Amino acid sequence: MSKFTDFAQRRRETTKMVPVPSVSIMPERDLGKAPALECLHLGIDFGGLKAVDDFNITVGRTEICGLIGPNGAGKTTVFNLLTKVYAPTRGTIMVDGQDTAGMDPARVNRLGVARTFQNIRLFNSMTVEENVAVGLHNQRHCGMATSILRLPHHWKSERYYHERALELLDIFDMAGLADHEAGSLPYGAQRRLEIVRALATNPKL
Ligand SMILES: Nc1ncnc2c1ncn2[C@@H]1O[C@H](COP(=O)(O)OP(=O)(O)OP(=O)(O)O)[C@@H](O)[C@H]1O
Ligand SMILES: [Mg+2]
Repeated sequence: MSKFTDFAQRRRETTKMVPVPSVSIMPERDLGKAPALECLHLGIDFGGLKAVDDFNITVGRTEICGLIGPNGAGKTTVFNLLTKVYAPTRGTIMVDGQDTAGMDPARVNRLGVARTFQNIRLFNSMTVEENVAVGLHNQRHCGMATSILRLPHHWKSERYYHERALELLDIFDMAGLADHEAGSLPYGAQRRLEIVRALATNPKL
């Protein structure tokens, strides 16, 4: 068997989808580890409108998955629930095996959930690099006093954030735009910047 056929064969085996104890399926290779995401009977009502009802999903740690549905089906509402923009009316959201009940968006982000928005939400008057720096904020190891007093550790961490921001921007071919105002970028570049900002938070999901 050639190396390629061998690889293709193994890939087929490990991408087999198998049922998991809840109500969903997951790639076989991710079994035995807590799923990146598990939603059980998730739902939210807006007044009399059931925008999302009995939504169940399990996403394995190595899985790439999409959510499709017609306009108004509730896709954006699901993302708003996952990121705690809305509190669920019913159901459970587990991230990396941890129940997110009662958590706020910042806490869920620290747990490893990042997102972009259907309608782009950048800090328009800030530069491209500053927008990415906002995403890096949760990794700051430098206290407020150190920053106010401009102690050496402050400059060291500033240098780290600058380099990390450029590294991330470079993946999306945007390092050359670091000093540009985010709001002045064309739509496609703003979309990519939102993805870079999300990645800067070092997400698992
Ligand atoms: N904050 C809200 N208050 C009241 N109703 C809402 C709210 N947010 C969403 N809805 C309603 O919930 C339903 C689902 O909307 P949602 O935006 O999640 O759909 P979608 O699948 O993202 O649609 P699209 O493909 O158009 O983006 C719609 O009927 C919408 O009007
Ligand atoms: Mg939507």
